[in-house]
Amino acid sequence: MQSIAPTLESHGDLSIAILNAGTCEYLDIADYNSNVIEKNIETNVMGTARCVEIALPALRRTRAKGLPATLVIVGSSAWWFPFARAEGYGASKAALAYFAHSLRADLASEGIDVVLVSPGFVKTPLTERNDFPMPFLVTAEEAAERIISGLAKGHNNIAFPKRFTWILKCLNALPQLFIDRMAASMARKSSNEQESRE
Ligand SMILES: NC(=O)c1ccc[n+]([C@@H]2O[C@H](COP(=O)([O-])OP(=O)(O)OC[C@H]3O[C@@H](n4cnc5c(N)ncnc54)[C@H](OP(=O)(O)O)[C@@H]3O)[C@@H](O)[C@H]2O)c1
Repeated sequence: MQSIAPTLESHGDLSIAILNAGTCEYLDIADYNSNVIEKNIETNVMGTARCVEIALPALRRTRAKGLPATLVIVGSSAWWFPFARAEGYGASKAALAYFAHSLRADLASEGIDVVLVSPGFVKTPLTERNDFPMPFLVTAEEAAERIISGLAKGHNNIAFPKRFTWILKCLNALPQLFIDRMAASMARKSSNEQESRE
């Protein structure tokens, strides 16, 4: 990433930086290993934080000329519910959401917009290896269209597909006791299904 910094200086105005790279490593609770948590945090949180270090000076130069500058961070809606095996991934995306909102506050006075994208399930190589049902799965093309149209409308938070993110939002508004019971029952079901496959 650091090798890109000089290229950005000579490339002309940077109006938008979309920080999308990420991973999803699931935890096997029977064989708990903190490396799984580290891999998610390192790539999703630290990787994004380091990219901001490279992109921000270029976005600031653009703003200094009075041109619009936008930083887009791709998070996830997965952390809105405590899904089984997603301790590392969910924690990394929760951290990323806080990071984006806090950056938005700090950069507001400079006129640099910070957009948080929170997708549901998207059909990509990352989800191809998932062995569980993925409700309301959208194609990568549909996801890209939702992001482009949200950006064109000037939205600061882009979450899709709505039928999935609204369900998660409603679940999130329930009392914690109910969420805990539902999450534990889903975790048991997923582990039973995994055992019967093995
Ligand atoms: N797919 C979904 O359902 C879904 C849902 C919510 C959020 N997201 C988020 O959307 C983003 C893109 O995911 P995707 O589904 O398109 O996954 P993907 O198909 O696996 O693509 C991930 C991308 O991130 C890059 N990457 C991964 N680890 C990296 C590292 N350590 N250093 C540099 N680049 C790295 C990969 O580069 P290489 O190809 O070079 O490895 C690849 O270009 C991620 O942030 C993911 O968390 C995805």
